Amino acid sequence: MKKKIIKGGKIVTATDSFEADILIEGEKIVQIGKDLVNIDAEIVDATGKYVFPGGIDPHTHLDMPFNNTVTDDDWESGTIAAAFGGTTTILDFALTAGETKLATAVDKWHDKAEGKAVIDYGFHLMITDLNEETEKELPLLLEKEGITSIKVFMAYAKEFQASDRTLFKAFKIGKETGAIVMVHCENGSVIDELVEEAKMAGNTAPIYHALTRPPEIEGEATKRAIELAHVAGAKLYVVHVTCKEAVDEIIKAREKGYDVYGETCPPYLTLDQSLLAQPGFEGAKYVWSPPLRPKSHQEPLWNALKAKQLQTIGSDQCSFNFNGKKQLGINDFSKIPNGGPFIEDRFSVLYSEGVCKGYISINDFVDLVSTNAAKIFGLYPQKGTIAIGSDADIVIFDPKIKRVISAKTHHMNVDYNAFEGMEVTGEPVSVLLRGEFIVKDKEFVGTIGGGKYIKRQLEKKVVSPLETALLN
Ligand code: URP
Ligand code: ZN
Ligand code: ZN
Repeated sequence: MKKKIIKGGKIVTATDSFEADILIEGEKIVQIGKDLVNIDAEIVDATGKYVFPGGIDPHTHLDMPFNNTVTDDDWESGTIAAAFGGTTTILDFALTAGETKLATAVDKWHDKAEGKAVIDYGFHLMITDLNEETEKELPLLLEKEGITSIKVFMAYAKEFQASDRTLFKAFKIGKETGAIVMVHCENGSVIDELVEEAKMAGNTAPIYHALTRPPEIEGEATKRAIELAHVAGAKLYVVHVTCKEAVDEIIKAREKGYDVYGETCPPYLTLDQSLLAQPGFEGAKYVWSPPLRPKSHQEPLWNALKAKQLQTIGSDQCSFNFNGKKQLGINDFSKIPNGGPFIEDRFSVLYSEGVCKGYISINDFVDLVSTNAAKIFGLYPQKGTIAIGSDADIVIFDPKIKRVISAKTHHMNVDYNAFEGMEVTGEPVSVLLRGEFIVKDKEFVGTIGGGKYIKRQLEKKVVSPLETALLN
């Protein structure tokens, strides 16, 4: 593999911005400095561009069976789209439901990804139920697979929802193993009742998806998850936070010193609930959970990102075609598959709407799209930063390009784009994965199946001398 020098760009990490060159040897960054020279190296001109660490998307659902169908992006189309969008690592949810052995579910996810992924990846392990066997198996499986995160749903009563008891058991295993527990916080049982009520009253249009999942229900579940995690002594990561009610609970918990982290997603920061109320069935394109909220919820989300009370931006990629898939719910909003296509535009939308509009700094941006996820999920410093010894996962980003997001030009395998028509400033033009170009001057040059499964590492527990004395 030829050495490379990325020359003349402005390197931006979560803490610093400076002009310097990067020497890459094999898969790693080996030198960072001014005016680097190496006669064997290919020179990559990054003049006038930002040089960011590769994006880490901590929340994707590729090739996922859900709502009586399956997502339209698999590990090939989904990861190619991610690469175009500046993401070099994803963490996807390996689903379990009813398996006697959790390892079967993880094997199934390896089979989906292997030979297809063009970027690196890891899995979160989802739990719907725990019995004596799986409770014993879980810690061993996490260790064997290098998985540092467990996922529990408090919603989707008919498919994935775990009982509070299972949620609490997951927190106990989180405490015991050090794994972080990621929770979808909505009250699924109450939602089912509200959905039933709406349908009985003849309310079947897409807007009722949002109206039957009010923000109070997300706030209530967030508070419940926070308290249960605290009682168990576990670390909690609240996925896709959408509303003031949930943000307020997270801030209160963090101010009390609880180990709580939060993620939000680009649509909640930029789109609003009125999109579901469009005439005809157009609103179905915007059906995902939790739902889009009225515009007034966006400011609290931006403020929480700026104040570092929310730490990451996930895409929650879960794409379903409008034709044939979203249309399953044409007469009944509760049959519209939940999810949207976001893996490709996560980076660009956050840069354009967040940095260019002055809500967050460029270093915050890097923290949110890459570094924090690497730290929280055990990938740092192999990934998530530009440093000597780190993987050479690098995005060369042109901050001057303006483009209009459209399904006509995106790379996701889906027939619409939720951000259709949005003008964004800035675009990843070239992307390197472990030292090799996967996107070069906006062309895909990667290898199908070239992505690697990454075993992650739990943060080392720091045991104080007093604790050691008490333990012995
Ligand atoms: O509607 C969504 N978000 N679909 C994906 C599953 C989930 O809840 O994350
Ligand atoms: Zn969810
Ligand atoms: Zn999700």
